[in-house]
Amino acid sequence: MYMTDRARNYYTRDLEKVQGISTDLFQKVGEVGPAAREKRLETVRAAVKPSQHGEISAVIPDWSREAPTRWWDPGRQLLRCIRNYQHWGSRRGWLYIVPRKYQVLKHRFWSVVSGADIPLNAHVDGGLQLLHPNGIVIHPEARIGPNCIFFQQVTIGTRENSLRVPWIGGDVSIGAGAKVLGGIRVGDHARIGANAVVLCDVPDGAVAVGIPARILQPRES
Ligand SMILES: CC(C)(COP(=O)(O)OP(=O)(O)OC[C@H]1O[C@@H](n2cnc3c(N)ncnc32)[C@H](O)[C@@H]1OP(=O)(O)O)[C@@H](O)C(=O)NCCC(=O)NCCS
Repeated sequence: MYMTDRARNYYTRDLEKVQGISTDLFQKVGEVGPAAREKRLETVRAAVKPSQHGEISAVIPDWSREAPTRWWDPGRQLLRCIRNYQHWGSRRGWLYIVPRKYQVLKHRFWSVVSGADIPLNAHVDGGLQLLHPNGIVIHPEARIGPNCIFFQQVTIGTRENSLRVPWIGGDVSIGAGAKVLGGIRVGDHARIGANAVVLCDVPDGAVAVGIPARILQPRES
């Protein structure tokens, strides 16, 4: 898998965060340095359960999905601003104000270009793909798992009478024009049909279509 050094650092950090990985595992290969890190990565990769439905993981973000392929790549450029802003925002000190402000400006530019409303403080795990980012709206409190794919005009937000927001699992595909609303959970590897309005929980691997969305069937394991 192609990965820049920076992506590799994120990748390592995220691997270490993966639930269910015992800290003993790290102590067994506790040496430091690049070789030890590679060894540790290998150990963790072997321990993480592979995706149930294919090669895309619902747990480990694939940061290469977010790497811009060229300058004019609005979806990925928008995500890059958000990642950089959160990177600089996590550091304290006045020195970091300048790079943060620069990312805010870039974020405004790419938001205007794409017409997407994804806040700088969005809780989006790595590997999100926005192939056609126009009109995508994500609530700042919503949680998006790793390696999801959102098509154009997707809305992740609240319902009128409640402030609760959706929790989207890993490797979830949300079709064009779909709305996912309220305090619901969309399971890992789920697929949401184009123009669906999802108001209820979607189990892992299920397909939801229609208005309001109905669950079609669990996908094959
Ligand atoms: C939901 C989706 C993933 C289902 O794909 P699938 O597993 O191949 O399902 P099928 O095409 O076999 O359809 C199964 C049933 O769901 C219905 N269905 C499929 N997509 C639907 C949709 N978006 N809205 C309403 N019903 C839908 C089909 O009519 C079929 O119903 P039936 O069993 O009564 O005949 C797919 O149809 C979809 O909407 N993908 C989004 C693609 C997209 O947004 N692309 C944008 C590209 S720019």
